[in-house]
Formats: sequence, structure tokens, C-alpha cells
Amino acid sequence: MESARAIKQVVRQIENQEWLETLSDSVEENVVVGAYEKLGESQWPIRNVLHGSFLGHPLHPMVSDIPVGAWTITQIFDTADVVFGKKDLRAGADTALVVGLLGGSITALSGWADWKHTKEETQRMGLVHGLLNMGAAGFYLISLLLRKTGARGVGQAFSTVGFGLMISGAYLGGELVFDRLVGTTRAETPDVPDEFTPIASVNDIEENTPYRFEVNDVPILVVRANREFHALSDVCTHLGRPLSGGEVHDGCITCPAHGSTFKLENGAVVTGPAAYPQPRLDVRVRDGYLEVRKPADH
Ligand code: FES
Repeated sequence: MESARAIKQVVRQIENQEWLETLSDSVEENVVVGAYEKLGESQWPIRNVLHGSFLGHPLHPMVSDIPVGAWTITQIFDTADVVFGKKDLRAGADTALVVGLLGGSITALSGWADWKHTKEETQRMGLVHGLLNMGAAGFYLISLLLRKTGARGVGQAFSTVGFGLMISGAYLGGELVFDRLVGTTRAETPDVPDEFTPIASVNDIEENTPYRFEVNDVPILVVRANREFHALSDVCTHLGRPLSGGEVHDGCITCPAHGSTFKLENGAVVTGPAAYPQPRLDVRVRDGYLEVRKPADH
């Protein structure tokens, strides 16, 4: 459709704005990294919460429903007040506005944490998405202050502008997820045979060294740790980089790209930014060969 094409062109224009790169670098370095440095060691559990690593699912899309839903209620109640004189809905509109501001705070923190690991066009689009939503929050905050000082009409005008900014930001948020796959897992269970398939002689696999093998062109990470063999997808669930370049320690492997750490025995996330566990394969040793297969419980 022509309308869809026109909107996509606007999105492409946004992500191609080179000057946004400088702004992105500055926000990443001075705001996100700066905040992490101030937090010191306590940043790690906080980051795990913000990325959703403890949930096995990104936190940001889940909590973003709070401001979107709450501010939509504000807009509906305000419209009913202005158009149909429903003054009894004013308290509800104001309460929803406050709920949106509270929910928007955790949404913003989780969003900026995820955004830090994006690059180039995706990062530029994410920056505009974040700025639109922060702009929306600013208009809603001013709207709340105006409502409290009796200037409800002007306050309603401010929140209407905020609603427009929020919807625009939500569109870009959809683009980031459905077009750029931000917040989605990059690794499905490897498409390897259901029957055990030999991939290497166990004599060729040294302790605590990550190896990359391929079965049917599917990259598999193999590690021998404490004399046990482990096989995971070699595609990191976070942003798809190979795990096999990473470091093995304490029964875990750390992705070389952004530091996500996964347990070798089951792929569970120990430290984000990954939110999704790393898919694992069944392994066994037969006649001196390591064999893998699709997990029986898959
Ligand atoms: S690709 Fe980002 S942590 Fe692995």
C-alpha cells in the first residue's frame, strides 16, 4: 500500500541520518556507560533485571505496555471529558497518567540498557524511538503539573501531544522488533538429526577449550569441562555472534561480543545482556567419538 511505503521511507530516512551517530555515541558513552560506572559492581544484577535475563524474555516489551495502556486510558477519558462533558472521569485520567509515568521509568531504563548493544542504523532508529518516548513522558509530566494547578485544558493539550509522540515511538519500537529483530532470540534449537550423529573424536577435544563444529551446516559449540562434554548452539541468543570465540570458566562460556554468560550444562543465562537461554543438544560418547542430537525433550 502507498501509505505503508511512505511510512517506511520516513523510517529509512531516520535510520540514515549520519548525524545521529554522534549523538548515539555520546548518549551511549556519557549516559548508559556513565551510569553503569557509577553503579560499580552492583550494575550486574541490575543489568540482568533490565535485560530480562532473569525472566528468559526481554523486560522492555513487557513493561512498555504499562505506559502505552495507561496513557491511552488518559487520552480516552480526557476525550470523554472534553467532548461529552464526563467530568467524573478526570480523576481516572490523572491516575492513569501517573501510572504511565511510573511504568515509563522502568520501560526507559530497560530500553536504554538493550539499546546500548545495537549498532549503526538500528542504534540510530532506537535512539529516535527512545527520544520520542522520553519527549512523550516530558509532555505528560508537564500535563500532570498543569492539571494539579487547575489548568486542566492546557494540561490535556500537553498530554495529547505526548500521546502523539508515544504512538510515533511505538511504531519505531515495532520496527526495531519485527524488522531489526531487537529483543528476539537469534538462536533456535539447532536443526540437527534426532538420532545421535558423530561430530569429532574425543581425543581432539581439549578441556575448557571451545570448539565449533558443523552438522548439516548448523554451527555447534562443543566444550569439554570437568571431563563432561557439552554442546550448545554456536549462535548467541543475544545478537547472533559465535560463542565459540568466547572464554570457558566455572562451567560457563562467556560470549566474546557483549559478555553474556551461559551455563554449559543447560544453556541458562548467568549474566546478560542475553535474555534467552542458549539452546543445547544431547551429547554422548560412542567408540571414541562425540555424538550430538536434537534434545529428546525438545
Ligand atoms: S551476541 Fe551479544 S552477548 Fe553474544
